[in-house]
Amino acid sequence: MADVEVWVADAVVLAGQAEPLLSTAETERSARYVSVEARRLFVLSRALQRLLGSAYLGVPAERVEIGRSCRLCSDGGDHGKPYLRGAPGLDYSVSHAGRLVLLAWSSACRVGADIEWLDRRLDPGLLGARTLAAAEQADLDALPATERSAQFLRLWTRKEAAVKLAGHGLTVPLASVQVDGPTARLAVPPPGWPTEPLTLTTLPVPDGYTAALATTAAPRVTRREITDLTAGAGTAPVRREPTAASPHPHVAVEPAEATRPDAS
Ligand SMILES: CC(C)(COP(=O)(O)OP(=O)(O)OC[C@H]1O[C@@H](n2cnc3c(N)ncnc32)[C@H](O)[C@@H]1OP(=O)(O)O)[C@@H](O)C(=O)NCCC(=O)NCCS
Repeated sequence: MADVEVWVADAVVLAGQAEPLLSTAETERSARYVSVEARRLFVLSRALQRLLGSAYLGVPAERVEIGRSCRLCSDGGDHGKPYLRGAPGLDYSVSHAGRLVLLAWSSACRVGADIEWLDRRLDPGLLGARTLAAAEQADLDALPATERSAQFLRLWTRKEAAVKLAGHGLTVPLASVQVDGPTARLAVPPPGWPTEPLTLTTLPVPDGYTAALATTAAPRVTRREITDLTAGAGTAPVRREPTAASPHPHVAVEPAEATRPDAS
């Protein structure tokens, strides 16, 4: 089993605490957001990456360097899968939706994560035609109309988790990634796709959201909820082993056994 830590944080609750952790460039970038909600998510996402990076690398948060690796170009732009410079054995994935930021983190396998807000207004018929495999679409159509949007978003998060693990993002057509079983399946994997099967796990998240994790090994998930960013930043090491007690006094931990890979 591969240990994976999953962090869930509320961007509204932590807004004030997150900003001081950002670099000057990130602070300048955050000021350019028009949407307050999107700005809060960006700020918390970067603050969390710095806080966890600081603990992992044993350096102050301001010295954590977040890189991005794009599979399609090498222009060095701020896009593609994030990684921590100086931590080659670590893989992590970030997602945000509604008011939550989700971050999956492992030094034992590759990870991809996605969270979506259960927005009842979406049209699963319209979106499904572009993003679901035929079998997934048939299963969705067989459900009562009231259940379709939640199931569509569940499938969507599984697909996005897989393409984010690989670093391809939406450059891979989502309809080609079949996720109605315990692993993600592609008839013709694109260049650079992992050779290992991608295990899919439904993550426990607050009501109103759905989230999925993709991993290159069967995961043992420890879920952490952060309620205070100010305690311990830059000092407490992130434990690699799941434990009953949190290394961070401000972090609530659920037992590792709470989340298991999805059965078929
Ligand atoms: C990654 C992607 C699937 C995320 O979609 P989303 O549902 O809107 O956003 P989420 O909140 O779930 O995830 C956003 C996070 O995914 C991460 N991410 C971005 N691109 C990624 C990639 N290719 N692989 C893995 N993770 C990626 C980032 O950490 C990003 O957060 P940040 O921008 O705040 O740093 C989508 O934006 C995408 O495919 N982008 C890449 C497109 C691309 O590669 N174009 C070619 C450029 S040359």
